[in-house]
Amino acid sequence: MDQRAQQNTPDQSKRSFLKQSLIFIGGAVALAVSWGMGRFALFSNEKKKLREVPSEVLAKLQPDVPVHVPGAEAWIVKRKSDGSVVAFDDRCTHLGCRPNWNPQRNLFECPCHGSEFDMEGVVKRGPAKLPMARLTISTKEGEKPRLLDRPLAS
Ligand code: FES
Repeated sequence: MDQRAQQNTPDQSKRSFLKQSLIFIGGAVALAVSWGMGRFALFSNEKKKLREVPSEVLAKLQPDVPVHVPGAEAWIVKRKSDGSVVAFDDRCTHLGCRPNWNPQRNLFECPCHGSEFDMEGVVKRGPAKLPMARLTISTKEGEKPRLLDRPLAS
């Protein structure tokens, strides 16, 4: 039997096929892991983005008139009842659309699936089940006011 005939035996073909399959599967797994890590890195950077609020916005707040701050992706409300200021993430807790404030109804209305939230971010109508996410307003001296996802440690 010559050498060329030996290279084409069924066993060798199976081995070659298995070897190529393993290389392909290994490449697919490596690609999936890289994609996942890349997404994680992007997501982490997104979370670290500063949500600064221009000082003028805070100074000009009118009682019970929510103000949208697009750069901070937030709504800010000065409560008429006690003058306190609260901030909410501007994404709907259902699937992440951006609710608008309807001054006639005193509600945040989500244009995507109809969820509604009151001025305190409480769900008044679903499908959203969770209230609007409350943000902490940080006003450290010498820094621009900014919003934080979690309450400040005291
Ligand atoms: Fe707001 Fe669905 S994303 S109701």
